[in-house]
Amino acid sequence: MKDIKIESSFTVYEDLNELPKDVANLMKEASKIRLKAYAPYSKFLVGAAILLDNGEVITGNNQENASYPSGLCAERTAIYYAGAQFPDAKILKMALTAGSQSQSTTTPIPPCGACRQSIAEYEFKQESSIEIYFMGTFGKVIKSNSLANLLPLGFDKSFL
Ligand code: THU
Repeated sequence: MKDIKIESSFTVYEDLNELPKDVANLMKEASKIRLKAYAPYSKFLVGAAILLDNGEVITGNNQENASYPSGLCAERTAIYYAGAQFPDAKILKMALTAGSQSQSTTTPIPPCGACRQSIAEYEFKQESSIEIYFMGTFGKVIKSNSLANLLPLGFDKSFL
């Protein structure tokens, strides 16, 4: 028997001004699309913006449904669209912003487990890391150099 330790490290930016320009712009795109989320049930709005290696920026937001499980998170709305439209492009960066409709928050809100699994799929597909930046509605931004940091001991195609 032995114990193993898996460590993840992240970078914390105080606000958008501290981010590299391209990432700040990507986060602004995520903030814009967040406000167009269709979230009448949770009233929790999420925006995602993806930068591809061909320069394209793909955005998405959460889309809810009266049959709750039929809805889809912002991250997956965006990443599946990117995969559908640009199957050969690599995803370089992803910016995420989330918060409830009624109040703003500076607490960075990370992607849910299902979205982590979905983003991980694309890291395996493209054989390179995706930088993930996430924030609340304003203020602090946390950066993960790779989705793998957010999903240790993940499941992937190598097990199939
Ligand atoms: N949501 C996302 O869009 N992304 C996440 O990573 C977490 C949750 C959405 C789903 C639902 O529409 C609302 O936020 C509340 O859970």
